[in-house]
Parts: sequence; C-alpha cells; structure tokens
Amino acid sequence: MRGAQITGWGAALPEKVVTNHDLSTTLDTTHDWIVERTGIHERRVGGSTSGLAIEAGRLAMEKAGWEPSTVDLVILATTTPDQQVPASASTVQNELGLTCGAFDLNAVCSGFAYSLITAHGFIQVGLSRILVIGADTLSRITDWDDRGTAILFADGAGAVALEAVEGPGELLGWDLGSDGSLRHILDADIGGYLNMDGKEVFRRAVRVMVSSGKAAIERAGLTPDDVDLVIPHQANIRIIESACNKLGIPLDKAVSVLHRTGNTSAASIPLALADAADSGRLQPGAIVLLVGFGAGMTWASAVIRWNP
Ligand code: COA
Repeated sequence: MRGAQITGWGAALPEKVVTNHDLSTTLDTTHDWIVERTGIHERRVGGSTSGLAIEAGRLAMEKAGWEPSTVDLVILATTTPDQQVPASASTVQNELGLTCGAFDLNAVCSGFAYSLITAHGFIQVGLSRILVIGADTLSRITDWDDRGTAILFADGAGAVALEAVEGPGELLGWDLGSDGSLRHILDADIGGYLNMDGKEVFRRAVRVMVSSGKAAIERAGLTPDDVDLVIPHQANIRIIESACNKLGIPLDKAVSVLHRTGNTSAASIPLALADAADSGRLQPGAIVLLVGFGAGMTWASAVIRWNP
C-alpha cells in the first residue's frame, strides 16, 4: 500500500494592499458593510498567476528539502492562467528548474482540494514527489466598478509538497462533486468579468460545505467531534460560521485568513493551511478537514492527518 503526506508548504501574496477604505473611494460601499457581510478587511492585488505560484512552490520545496531534480509532477490549480495557452504550470515547472510533468487544473475555488486528491491518485500509480499549488489572480477578471464582486476577490498562491510514504498515508477520507446545472450563479465568459448571484452562491455554498465535509469525515471513519481543525475555502466568514455550525464543529476550530486576503479562489485553502502551519496552530497528529467549494458549482473535501 502506498499513501502520501504533506512535507512542505508555502504562501505568496502580492505586495499591494487594497483596503475596504480604498474601495469605498470608488464604490458605493463602506468598510463596515464589507466587514459585517463578509469578514474581509483588506486584500492583496497584483502579480501574475505563475509568478505567485513559483514563489509559493519554491517555499514549499525548500521546507520539504526537495532538490528540483527529485520532483515528479506539478499540479497547478487555477482559473486565471497567465495565457490561454500554454498552461501556467509549464512556466512554473521551467522557472523552478523542474524536469517533470506539469498541468493546470481548473475547478475554480475547489481547485486546490481537487488537486490534492488528484495528486494522491498519481502517488498510488507510482509517483513520489508532487508539488500541488493553488494560485489565482482574480483581480484580472473582476469588474472593479461592481460592488457586488469587487469587495470579495483578490490574488495569491499557496503550495504544498506531497510525498509518497509506505502504508496508507495521511489522506483519511475525501469527497468531490460538481453540479453543472448551477453554472449560471457564478461565471465569467472568456475575456469577461465575474458575474455572481451572491445570495444563491451563499446558500448553495453552505449546503455543499456541510454535505461534502460530512461525506469526507464519514469515509475517514470519523465523526465531526474528531476534527481538530477545519481549513475551509476563504470566501466569506458568514459562510464558514454557518457551515461549521451545521457540521457541529465549533467555529474556533476553523482557520480564517480572509480578513487580510479576501477570496483568492484556488489559493485560499493552501494560504490558510500555510498560516496555520507557520503559526503552530497545526500540531502533529491533528485531524484536519479541508473543504472547498466554488463556481460550477464544484466542491471537494479532504480529511488528512497532519504529520509533516
Ligand atoms: N456595499 C454596500 N451595500 C451593498 C453592497 C456593497 N458592496 N453590495 C450590495 N449592497 C446592498 C444591496 O444593494 C442591498 O441593498 P437593498 O437592501 O437596499 O436592496 C443590501 O446591500 C443587501 O444586499 P445583499 O445582496 O442581500 O447582501 P448579502 O448579505 O447577500 O451580501 C454578498 C452580499 C455578496 C457579500 C453575499 O451574498 C456573499 O458573500 N455571497 C457569497 C459570494 C461568494 O462567496 N462567492 C464566491 C464563492 S467561491
């Protein structure tokens, strides 16, 4: 039997900070409204998807002690590649000096959780070291004159180094899904801006976080009481509160960095994971529930044991 564990992590955010006060100078909105409805205080904007992905990926490799020649695959979760062609993963592979396969995976805000599960499949069929990155520059597809979306979306990247181990490894349970009949509630045409029915996305997000999170916990043979830490997609603190409440997991077990990052799509879970790991909140042996959801709709959850 062959499993995997996370042995390194890294995060990257653009330098430019855009506060709610900044937005209120160009939009009919206020700092207090944004904080009350979303929990977001500020966000980072700028850079390129591959540039941020390279920075986060390099940190994850350093933390894991990986030489570039030993990496077997790069999976880059992104909805905002730098170009239509080629995949931004090819830029990342080249700039990090890797000599392995590389591809982009688009499952929007669920992309990192999808990629982590996908990477475990590659480990099962023989790969040993996989760099899994979530990176997005949503600012490029956000209409900065639309107060319904401009207050939410931002840029960033996070990465993990996933390494094969003998035995079952640390992925204990997982779930993924999609309901394409809900494509219209959050979409962007090629070359266009994000369109969103915020209320409907909110309602559906809570629902799928709960059902998917529960499914992954059950498949791990655990109960919500066994979960030490939840690392949810960082979209809105009220979505996280409501989902934790319905899952029966106290809110103080949920990691949130969205007050300073906004919604960074595929980057949001690995950014929150890196924050929890660096701050010592993630302790060896901890049972961790990762839950992603996003446009599609898509959703993906993974229960892992933290054992870096
Ligand atoms: N600033 C001030 N007022 C705003 C506003 C803003 N940025 N955006 C909307 N409003 C107004 C509305 O016009 C409405 O006014 P009205 O009552 O006079 O009609 C009022 O505030 C309430 O708007 P509503 O859309 O009901 O707010 P909400 O509580 O649903 O919050 C979102 C809006 C977008 C913050 C919320 O729906 C949300 O976060 N949804 C999920 C989005 C998401 O996570 N997307 C990504 C998923 S991966």
